[in-house]
Amino acid sequence: MPDLAVDIGAVALKNPVICGAGEHVITRAGVRAALGAGAGAVVVKSTNERQEAKEQLDRADYTLRDADWHPLDWGAPPPRDASLFCRSGLTPLPFDQWLDMTAALDREARTVDAYVVASLILADIDAAVAMARQIEQAGVRVLEFNIGAPYGDEASDGAIVTERAAGRVRDHVAAVRQSVAMPLWVKITGQSENVAALAGAARDGGADAVVMMGRALALLPDIEAMTPVLGTNGGLGGAWSLPLTCYWLARARRTLGDSLPLIGTNGARNGADVVRFMLAGASAVEMCTAVMTGGFGVLRQAVEEAANYLDDKEMNARDIVGVVADQVGRFGDQPLRPGAWRNFVPGEALDDG
Ligand SMILES: Cc1cc2nc3c(=O)[nH]c(=O)nc-3n(C[C@H](O)[C@H](O)[C@H](O)COP(=O)(O)O)c2cc1C
Repeated sequence: MPDLAVDIGAVALKNPVICGAGEHVITRAGVRAALGAGAGAVVVKSTNERQEAKEQLDRADYTLRDADWHPLDWGAPPPRDASLFCRSGLTPLPFDQWLDMTAALDREARTVDAYVVASLILADIDAAVAMARQIEQAGVRVLEFNIGAPYGDEASDGAIVTERAAGRVRDHVAAVRQSVAMPLWVKITGQSENVAALAGAARDGGADAVVMMGRALALLPDIEAMTPVLGTNGGLGGAWSLPLTCYWLARARRTLGDSLPLIGTNGARNGADVVRFMLAGASAVEMCTAVMTGGFGVLRQAVEEAANYLDDKEMNARDIVGVVADQVGRFGDQPLRPGAWRNFVPGEALDDG
């Protein structure tokens, strides 16, 4: 049997499959189901100090779409090409209850050699620092700090901040880093001209790992009603996001080196996708949409599929991190193939008389 363990800095996970934060881990039952499915870690639904961010959950809406953007039934296992378009909010629980629940669940997680990770979403940095201190005091072992949730421009003023400026990324992370000693994973936006630079800024601020990358903001027109689907902009993701995330994972690894642990998120739907993210440079992978739409069994299956892959390759999980990222060539180094482009255009385009 291959060794599935991976290292996120000082945190050793029993396997690279992390249940990412979403509506399925608002409740104790959800977190326990994810632990029961064998996830190496479970990130609980995020919180912050803003009431508007909690209320936003009651204004949330979700629609799964096929490749033609037609609605799919929720509840049936989604096809591979499904996209999730939605707007979401934060945990409805008051901070104290959320913290008690998270700390208790992290204690439970120890018994199955897993972690339950606390998750803060940035609004006001001083409030985030104060909450981070309480999280550490409560004994939770890992903190994820999401400074790149996609809804910053859409939510009520300041309820959620999408940080896109490298300088502020570094400063926010440093503020939390100086206040707590616990392992700090920083989740960053993908809505940036240079996601790798934001990862570097998070590292410079003291992040132990960078989780990349947040989903895209999108607008989906309904052509019958001639209105925006769900009435607003929303976050969008699908299996198609995977190569976009892999690009930034590999680029972060190239520019920052392999000593900064990266955690992939945004596009993983099964165990093969977990492997793809790892080959691109991720040490572990957070899955959210696949679990929300397909159930917690998706996590167990992903662990099994990754194990089978490693078994076939006679490799351990740690050995595959970045293997593909480290082979990405430059355009100018590729062999010349004069005229090859002709094979890739419609015939009429070559009919020059
Ligand atoms: C409905 C929904 C709710 C989410 N809630 C949170 C959250 O509370 N905190 C957070 O850090 N990320 C949140 N995310 C982001 C996911 O954890 C994940 O990083 C993202 O969806 C990309 O991964 P995926 O393709 O596996 O869904 C949410 C995503 C979705 C779709």
